[in-house]
Amino acid sequence: MSRVEPVVSVLLDPARAATSLVDDVRRGLGAHPRRLPPKWLYDDEGSRLFDEITRLPEYYPTRTERAILTAYADDIVGACDATTVVELGSGTSEKTRLLLDAFARSGRLQRFVPVDVSEGTLREAATALADRYPGLAVEAVVGDFTLHLGRLPRRGRRLIAFLGSTIGNLYLEERRAFLGALGDSLDSGEWLLLGVDLVKDADRLVAAYDDAAGVTEEFVRNAVRVLNRELDADFDADGFSYAPLWDARMERMDLRLRAEMPQRVRIPGADLELDLHVGEELRIEISTKFRLDRIGAELDDAGLAVARTWTDPDDDFAIILARRR
Ligand code: AVJ
Repeated sequence: MSRVEPVVSVLLDPARAATSLVDDVRRGLGAHPRRLPPKWLYDDEGSRLFDEITRLPEYYPTRTERAILTAYADDIVGACDATTVVELGSGTSEKTRLLLDAFARSGRLQRFVPVDVSEGTLREAATALADRYPGLAVEAVVGDFTLHLGRLPRRGRRLIAFLGSTIGNLYLEERRAFLGALGDSLDSGEWLLLGVDLVKDADRLVAAYDDAAGVTEEFVRNAVRVLNRELDADFDADGFSYAPLWDARMERMDLRLRAEMPQRVRIPGADLELDLHVGEELRIEISTKFRLDRIGAELDDAGLAVARTWTDPDDDFAIILARRR
């Protein structure tokens, strides 16, 4: 089979992304507690730091999900009848190759649609994927999966893969809206493959987000550096301490920065000025942990019936296959 030239469609251009950063910052920093949406953590430096996080000894999710995919990719392919894989937040599609390899072995895969906000990463990944899988049509989409679900390619019978427990970074109301939109965007009989990190001992969770090498702290601190650069803000990034906590009621990690001294912050790019008092916290990211029965019920509410679930031997992480009713 011969190589098919990848196609890249841009639904999110840099100008639109800039407006959406300004909107997010105005809304988030005006709320109480002040918060920033986590998607802005992934500039080049943030992406590099996240990559480093995935290799930390304390950070089990990435390697556990990879182990599940390694063990069960052929089962996953066998359990569904998809011909098109759509991956939300695909990045380099590194783990997804395990799935694509299994699909390629089955001879069923026709199309791969990686979706990511980062155009550079996506273009490189699209080229590499087209090289690796002859005959596969790679139709990459530069887009924001919280905005563009309705505009994804519709051809083939689709499996939407949303891995890495990225769904855990959404707030409860955002998750409900997202799952609803996901259900709406799928035709009856199409599939969702969802990676979720499971509830476990608080000690292990806190360790995974407060690593000894301090990489996660740098990753979180990078959020204010992004604002300094993109919006000409003057946050003193080192004037904050890192405050990660396990919120047992919401069953989520809550990663915050705490102002160690009073700061007056100017954010000209968003036409905003903030006075932060000592001890005031900026909530940078949450990372919700799941229970299979509850996420199953949430999926069901969105019209997605759980078909199969695969976990690792310690039940640390799960990959759920659900079908649109
Ligand atoms: C984006 C879901 C893979 O929540 O575990 C890791 C992001 N933040 N350490 C997670 C993250 C801090 C990560 N995921």
